[in-house]
Amino acid sequence: MALIIFCVFIFVSHASALNVCPNCGSVEVPYPFSTDENCGDTRYKIYCNNNSVLEFPSAEGFLYKILSINPTSNKLIINPPTIMQTSSTCYSSDFPLGGLRLDERSPFNISSHNTVILLNCSNALLRSPLNCSSTSLCRRFEDNMEEGSACRGTLCCHYLKDSSMNSHFIRARNGGCSAYTSVVDMQPSDPVEKWNYGIELQWLPPNN
Ligand SMILES: *[C@@H]1O[C@H](CO)[C@@H](O)[C@H](O)[C@H]1NC(C)=O
Ligand SMILES: *[C@@H]1O[C@H](CO)[C@@H](O)[C@H](O)[C@H]1NC(C)=O
Ligand SMILES: *[C@@H]1O[C@H](CO)[C@@H](O)[C@H](O)[C@H]1NC(C)=O
Ligand SMILES: *[C@@H]1O[C@H](CO)[C@@H](O)[C@H](O)[C@H]1NC(C)=O
Repeated sequence: MALIIFCVFIFVSHASALNVCPNCGSVEVPYPFSTDENCGDTRYKIYCNNNSVLEFPSAEGFLYKILSINPTSNKLIINPPTIMQTSSTCYSSDFPLGGLRLDERSPFNISSHNTVILLNCSNALLRSPLNCSSTSLCRRFEDNMEEGSACRGTLCCHYLKDSSMNSHFIRARNGGCSAYTSVVDMQPSDPVEKWNYGIELQWLPPNN
């Protein structure tokens, strides 16, 4: 009996390894990503929405548009949440959920290539090691990007998401900062409009 179960297990895990999901519109869905329960590895669940755009779910189920996937380096880049501008408020669209949170048991984490720009922060942030100075990169974002304009005149900060930091969270909350964006491989000398806006995630491959 045990042997039969074992053989079935081998068969299933082997079969799923070959089971790449169909394209999402014209976009390839590389293994191990799974757009439905019959393909890929379901621990790597993403969504193919009605407009043929791939979306990545946070632990709370907020969906972030996937900008690119690099299956060779096990990295993907998701779109930062939009900063809502209704009645000139400065809030990230994922603020009601506390920002971006990845399930700590999931194979994904936030890579150390992200420079996070925090906007409309409380003074509590001044006691942090973040760069909240008048020369912080967050000022350039607010001053030059329409999206950040409602955040001007409040405290803002930036930091590199390095390995000393929690790699499953980018927080947006009351008592912290109400909005954020992120830039992958920040080049401060580039014009603000050319920054590579995104949040880079990495994943642990299956069978590892
Ligand atoms: C996507 O399409 C399905 C089937 O046509 C429909 O039931 C669903 O409401 C649509 N979802 C959105 C968000 O438009
Ligand atoms: C900044 O955040 C605080 C809460 O921390 C909020 O009360 C305030 O409305 C926000 N400012 C803007 C411009 O959205
Ligand atoms: C803050 O960031 C700016 C821009 O990168 C840099 O010029 C400045 O030296 C930093 N300040 C601190 C205190 O790290
Ligand atoms: C993040 O994930 C990568 C690849 O799966 C892993 O090598 C790294 O140790 C993880 N980092 C943290 C802080 O969990």
